[in-house]
Amino acid sequence: MTDKPPVLDFATDFDHTDPEWVNDPYTIWEDLRQRCPVAHTDRFGGAWFPATHAGVTAIAKDTEHFTSRAVIIAEGRPTEEDLPAPIGVAPPITSDPPFHQIARRLILPAFAPGVVNALEPQIRALCASLLDDIITETVVNGSLDYARLIPPSVIRQMLGFPEEDTEKFIEMVHIITEAVDLPLDERIELFAPVEEYFTTKIEEHQENPRDDLTTFLLNAEINGEKLALEHVFGTMVLILVAGIDTTWGAIGASLWHLAQHPDDLARLVNEPDLMPVAIEEFLRFYAPVTMARLVNADMEYLGCPMKEYDWILLGFPAANRDPIVFKDADKFIIDRAENRHVAFGLGIHRCIGSNLARLELRVAIEEFIKRYPKFELANKDDVTWAQGQIRGPRNLPLRILS
Ligand code: HEM
Repeated sequence: MTDKPPVLDFATDFDHTDPEWVNDPYTIWEDLRQRCPVAHTDRFGGAWFPATHAGVTAIAKDTEHFTSRAVIIAEGRPTEEDLPAPIGVAPPITSDPPFHQIARRLILPAFAPGVVNALEPQIRALCASLLDDIITETVVNGSLDYARLIPPSVIRQMLGFPEEDTEKFIEMVHIITEAVDLPLDERIELFAPVEEYFTTKIEEHQENPRDDLTTFLLNAEINGEKLALEHVFGTMVLILVAGIDTTWGAIGASLWHLAQHPDDLARLVNEPDLMPVAIEEFLRFYAPVTMARLVNADMEYLGCPMKEYDWILLGFPAANRDPIVFKDADKFIIDRAENRHVAFGLGIHRCIGSNLARLELRVAIEEFIKRYPKFELANKDDVTWAQGQIRGPRNLPLRILS
């Protein structure tokens, strides 16, 4: 981590890696919504943060004025060379129209409801075996021993990678999404092993094709031509990142909530039919994913003097707490009837993995509360949160109650 000056005013100098934001962004967003709906910072080479549902929606749907060629804010302004078009470094999330639709359609079948639903028994068995592996009877780490191990196992099997590499994926995801406040040259150095790993896996699959997503991508064609290897590589990295940290964060935050709200926990244990509705409220209230955009050209937008390649921090989680759109937005209502949350984004980049994410989240919570119907936080102060654009508890000691 770098030594950065603390933030004194989030309206004019925000920093999503600041400890105050990492620990409790919600109070900051609420304040910003009231004072200035779009915050600014000179940090990261210049960035804007719309705190309202309307601001987030406008930008997410406006692919003319904003590009997705970089979606994770890093230190410094990107240059044209950092932003290869039209593929982008991780298609389709970093691709703009019209190429975006081609790259997206290519992988949609892998995440169709039928394909994903078939994974339920395997995910349930995985959750049960993780719970079997937990030795202690008193304190369980809901993040380290449970939530963080579920998504990598699912994604690993989709991509056709070996089981022993699970820890490696977690480290790779950390480099890509969390180590964002390091200087660019250090990030490039850190990224080298990720590149090496994926290159080796691609070569292995080229020599020995299998029934998995990596082989599918290597065989896929656009207009009768095989995909560029950078495209295959970028999509694999995207699936790894998009599929791991996000769902880990969602499962962890849901357990964190239940540990502090025994009434909600008891309702879920006693009313299993409530689960699908509760899952949507977990996703709204603790939405883990914030993405970024870049401004395409100098312009006035939402009343702000935006400059070419200014960053936009696109806070879907902030939009989910906007009281203009959600009644009692700051309250977690486990049986909230109407819940059109935007945890999975809006517009052309809306999450492809939402079926899988919902399935993993539901099964993970169902299995956990079946094994442990009563639990609480072991020590509130020991809970730590991920830094960066994907939010979730990293350390989550839970005391099991009888
Ligand atoms: C709770 C878990 C998850 C949340 C909250 C989430 C959220 C999001 C959001 C907000 C976006 C839009 C990004 C943008 O507008 O720039 C997105 C895109 C995407 N997500 Fe997820 N995601 C989750 C899990 C997953 C999983 C499990 C996968 C699959 C392995 C996945 C794959 C993708 C892909 C491929 C895109 C890019 C779609 C495109 O650009 O067209 N996500 N996700």
